[in-house]
Parts: sequence; structure tokens; C-alpha cells
Amino acid sequence: MYCGGVLQNCMSRIDEIEKEVFDRIEQTASVDDLEQISVEYLGRKGFLTGALRDISSLPKEDRPVEGQKANALKIKIKAVIEEKTARLQQICGTDSFGIDVTLPGRKISCGSLHPITQVAKEISDIFLRLGFDIAESPEVETDYYNFEALNIPKYHPARDMQDTFYVSENIVLRTHTSPSQPRVMEKTQPPVRIISPGKVFRCDSDITHTPMFHQVEGLMVDKNISFGDLKGILTTFIHQFFDKETSLRFRPSFFPFTEPSAEVDIRCVMCKGKGCRICSKTGWLEVLGSGMVHPAVFENVGYDTDTYTGFAFGMGIERLAMLKYGIDDIRKFFENDIRFLGQF
Ligand code: FA5
Ligand code: MG
Repeated sequence: MYCGGVLQNCMSRIDEIEKEVFDRIEQTASVDDLEQISVEYLGRKGFLTGALRDISSLPKEDRPVEGQKANALKIKIKAVIEEKTARLQQICGTDSFGIDVTLPGRKISCGSLHPITQVAKEISDIFLRLGFDIAESPEVETDYYNFEALNIPKYHPARDMQDTFYVSENIVLRTHTSPSQPRVMEKTQPPVRIISPGKVFRCDSDITHTPMFHQVEGLMVDKNISFGDLKGILTTFIHQFFDKETSLRFRPSFFPFTEPSAEVDIRCVMCKGKGCRICSKTGWLEVLGSGMVHPAVFENVGYDTDTYTGFAFGMGIERLAMLKYGIDDIRKFFENDIRFLGQF
């Protein structure tokens, strides 16, 4: 190894460096070591740089030859190091930007529609086939359409049926999709046959209730519409959505905007009707409210109550999805757990 200092040895030092540096390059198998060699020999304080500097102390006639020799050696060392670095990088699979081109590609995973969106679409498709149109209605609603137009006056105890989020005194987050009924009827003359799906909001939370959930409203108005039509359409829907074996029951109920009113329950699919915590031990799970449109609602929109009758219903999309897919907690839909959502 060259140690510097002795002038008369300058020539043999360059030869010595030449002999030694290529051996070292040859034996090296790492890019980092090659860089280290480059610094040791060609760096500012490197051996070859030192030898070059010492040339100035040689006799004048020897300087050109030794200078050329040293410079040629410098170029050669540089080239050999560069060539070997490139070869090692290729073997190790990294290109000059440090990207490992031999790694397998990353899989681009494809998203899917949220299960609630899928079920909403499925419900809509069934009603579209039954001749219903789709009507849109606002999520932020006036007190009038959410309550008063539906025969729920201010301070009426029926308002307690739905825990309301108030935006201001007269503006609410709609508690159900039923305001779509007066909104559609104000603009259309019978016959009316619409569904209106969307988000609704209630101050409510447990394994079968969430503060935001989805409903699909349905409304059919014409001459001679009877409770038999209501039962026929909803039974057809349930049998198409689940299957023909699905048991359902119409249970008398109360809504201020329908008379008579009924809620529809489905045989609990979790316990097959034996009774469990999902169905509160009843064997049945409520999926929708329905009834014949109350004459007061028709009067509010200017429909002739002697000529027209109609039925309406409002179903919970999450409830239907839970029953269809055997989901035991409604809150799972909104926890954004990809392991849950990825199954649909
Ligand atoms: C209503 O909202 C009435 N507007 C339905 C109606 C429409 C009756 C037209 C007559 C005529 P109810 O509060 O029962 O009714 O809610 C309807 C359905 O929404 C329920 O059967 C249930 O499936 C679902 N639901 C109600 N509250 C929640 C909640 N917090 N979370 C999830 N689903 C709910
Ligand atoms: Mg109810």
C-alpha cells in the first residue's frame, strides 16, 4: 500500500497503486465498497491524487511521462469502478435511481359499491319493474314538509315518534322520506306511482338503529286504489327481494299520514323466528311502515279525496340489507371496516 512522502519512489508508487487497486476492485462485491475504493484512491486525499501531486517534485524530464501515466490510471480506475457498479446494480436489481425493478408489481385493488348502495339499487330495480318512477327529495327539509303537510301539526305528540335533529326552528334533517309524498303530489296530478330513496336522520343509536340511515318511500295514487293493492305490491316486493318462501306479516300500526296503517315484519332470519337479541325475542323484524294515504294529506296538496285514494310505504334499507345478508349489527355498515365491506 502506498504511504506517501518519499519522492524517489513516486514512479514505483503509481505502478504499485495500479497493481493494488484493480485487485481490490476485482475482489469487491458491493456497490458501497466500490464507492469507498473510489474515495480512497481518487478522492481529494486519495492515494492517486497524492501521487499526482508528488510528480511536481520529480526531475523535469520525467514529469510528462509520469503525469500521463497517472492521469491514464485515474481514468481507467474510474471507468472500471463505474462498469462494476453498474453490473452489481443489475445483479441486485436496482437501477440507477435505486428502484428495484425485479420486485413484483403492487396489486391495484378495485373498490366496490357500498352494500347499502347495492341494496338500494336492488330495491329500486324491483319497483322500476313494477312501473314506479324515482323521485328525489331534499335531505335538509322544512318543518312543513317533514311534519305539517303529513298531518303532524306543531306540538302534536306524534312528533315524539321520531327524534328530530333541528337545523333551526323551521328547518330539520328529514326524519323520514315521507316529505317526498307532498312534494311530488304538489307538482303532479294522479295517477302517481313513485319511489323515493335516500338518507334520513334521527337521534337514535343501538344494534338496529343508527342516527343516519336510509329509507325508500313509495307512493301510489289513482282511482280505486285499495289496501289490497298495498298488500299485493309489498308482498310481491318482499318475495322478489328475498324469496317466495319468506314469511311476512302486516301488523296494525299508527302513522298520522296514513289510515289505516300497518307495519310489515319479516320472519327473523338470524333465529328463524325462534327469538334472539336482533328481533328482541319476538321472532320478527320490522322492515317498513305503510298505510292508505290520509285524506288530510290529500287536502294539503289539493287532491280530490272523493275521486282518489292511494297507499304509501317507507322501508328501512339497512334493515332489509341486514336480513338479506345475515348481519347482526346495523352499525357495521358505517364503521368503514374494509374486511366487512369487502365481502359484498
Ligand atoms: C316511518 O318513517 C314512516 N315515514 C314510514 C311510512 C311511510 C309509513 C309511508 C306510512 C306511509 P318508521 O319510523 O317506522 O316509519 O320507519 C320506517 C322504517 O325505517 C322502519 O320500519 C325501519 O326499517 C327503519 N328505521 C327506523 N328507524 C331506524 C333507525 N334509527 N335506523 C335504521 N333503520 C330505521
Ligand atoms: Mg316503525
